[in-house]
Amino acid sequence: AHAQVTVKAIKAGRLVDVAAGTVLKDQLIVITGERITAVGPASSTNVPAGAEVIDLSAQTVLPGLIDMHVHLTDDPMQQGYSALGISDVRSALHGVKAARLTLDAGFTTVRNVGASGFGDVALRDAINDGDIPGPRMRTAGYAIGIQGGHCDNNLLPAEYKVKGPGVADGPWEARAKVREMAKYGADVIKMCASGGVLSKGDEPGAQQYTLEEMKAIVEEAHKLGRRVAAHAHGASSIRDAILAGVDSVEHASMIDDEGIKLARDKGTWLVMDIYNDDFILQEGEKAGMLPEAIEKERAVGQLQRDNFKKAVKGGAKIAFGTDAGVYPHGDNARQFFYMTKYGMTPMQAIQAATIHAADLLGWKDRVGSLAAGKYADIIAVDGDPAADAALLTKVRFVMKGGVVVRR
Ligand code: ARG
Repeated sequence: AHAQVTVKAIKAGRLVDVAAGTVLKDQLIVITGERITAVGPASSTNVPAGAEVIDLSAQTVLPGLIDMHVHLTDDPMQQGYSALGISDVRSALHGVKAARLTLDAGFTTVRNVGASGFGDVALRDAINDGDIPGPRMRTAGYAIGIQGGHCDNNLLPAEYKVKGPGVADGPWEARAKVREMAKYGADVIKMCASGGVLSKGDEPGAQQYTLEEMKAIVEEAHKLGRRVAAHAHGASSIRDAILAGVDSVEHASMIDDEGIKLARDKGTWLVMDIYNDDFILQEGEKAGMLPEAIEKERAVGQLQRDNFKKAVKGGAKIAFGTDAGVYPHGDNARQFFYMTKYGMTPMQAIQAATIHAADLLGWKDRVGSLAAGKYADIIAVDGDPAADAALLTKVRFVMKGGVVVRR
């Protein structure tokens, strides 16, 4: 039996054309089933007979937003030692709530770059099966890293014998770990090139994987059709990750001029989570973050924002990513304020979270812009986000795949 295909037409008072970088007035979007089938001026585009008309003529309509760096299964209020009491299954169930909050905030696609117990894969599949509401997801499984590094778990002493399931030392172990992640449902590979802020006993500025290990990871992942996202704060880890051929550098806090030039020349994306600092410094202690983590944040937070500005100026490609899960899910759009404060125009920030993010995902053919053939992932806000991108924190309308999920 054929499912009945519904036809909808959205009247858009203003429409952000992210491909052109312009705002168009009085447009009509025709949606057939889960896809956009036509977009054009309301004056010359027909409303198909029998179509349900959605009137957003008082609002600005945009493609659904995309966050390239989230951890939906992480509870932001259970960090440090308190996270040790959370089972993988409980984390996955937290992800159910986080997925809904994220979608309601207008983020219709996310890249989940690290989860325990393959909770991200289960979440992705439950969303795709229609069991629960949530954004389209690309998943990584466990983040891969060196023993004792940011992607290990270093909270307990040796007698507990805890080794993070993503730990892999040496090129061949690392290759095997990439294969394991792919086997259990990773769409993308996440690895830790440097130390981190929220991990115990390591330094964000210090490199962790060697160039040799990173080359092995990238070659293996690309061979299996998976892109690679590298967590890297320190300058040398950023340079080596780019030289190894990663697709995106996450955080990039201490990127130097050479790193910016390398990223630009090689077309490597930067995904810089420049909202995160606010939550860590204001709420981190309450959330259970270690005192040493908060100290480390004080050293990198402002530096990362200043370097974001340099990277924008230097012409590096930047995609929107926030590290939601460190801070509360659904607050993702708070980062737009900082992206425009530190050098982007509002339109550039919107493009980073739509068409550019879709490019980094390898999903330019399906999401990230409002054009015929794309999924009908559509949001609307009051006012003009191309003048003030912070308005995206107040999304009023959300449609995913032609279905209205928030009105
Ligand atoms: N997950 C990252 C880490 O622990 C968070 C970094 C947050 N700080 C920042 N300024 N972006 O390294």
